Amino acid sequence: MKALIIFGSPRKTGDTANLLKTFLNNFEGEVDFVNAFPNASNNGVSACINCVACKHADCVIKDDFFKILKDDYDILVVASPIYMSNLPGPMLNVISRFNYFFHSGKKLTKQKLGVLILTGGGHGAKRMQGKTNEDLAIRQAEFIFAKTNASFYEENMVLSLNTDKTPAKYDYLAQQKIKQIVQNLYIVAGKK
Ligand SMILES: Cc1cc2nc3c(=O)[nH]c(=O)nc-3n(C[C@H](O)[C@H](O)[C@H](O)COP(=O)(O)O)c2cc1C
Repeated sequence: MKALIIFGSPRKTGDTANLLKTFLNNFEGEVDFVNAFPNASNNGVSACINCVACKHADCVIKDDFFKILKDDYDILVVASPIYMSNLPGPMLNVISRFNYFFHSGKKLTKQKLGVLILTGGGHGAKRMQGKTNEDLAIRQAEFIFAKTNASFYEENMVLSLNTDKTPAKYDYLAQQKIKQIVQNLYIVAGKK
């Protein structure tokens, strides 16, 4: 069983990374990463430039977005902090690259399961056009799952809020839920 992680935090040892660590400590399969933010060893994922080359050929931006297109994974983990009630800008860069599917007419056909890990420094209940502040981030993540042919169920979502007061490391409910999710993945996807 292979998991592809789309990681949306610039912090290698932050809250999202900590929850992801729990996922990885319990997951026994192959793992690969798409880092949305650039870091010392990686340029991150760039935004679509609307060159429309993908109408006839591969995407011209040669970055880790191709790991998503490779379609060789069983689990897609979207792990990200909430920024301004949304996913961070570099995660929206990733989403913009789904323009490839629109122009090429191609689809990812391998069926997979989606896991969502979101962290937020706030209480997660601020009203934003009638929605709680995490809703927008969740909807963006659901868009990623829809475009990658990943089934996403609410029980495969972990929200760790109020990290300003209680770092995700000490959010025992979230940590416990991640362990449960990994166990369930083996039951649903089968151990390969
Ligand atoms: C630019 C920016 C915007 C943020 N916006 C929100 C927000 O809208 N709601 C919220 O609950 N937390 C917000 N936060 C706090 C982060 O979501 C929180 O600190 C999170 O735990 C960081 O995760 P990380 O350590 O994995 O990067 C924001 C942080 C930054 C840097």
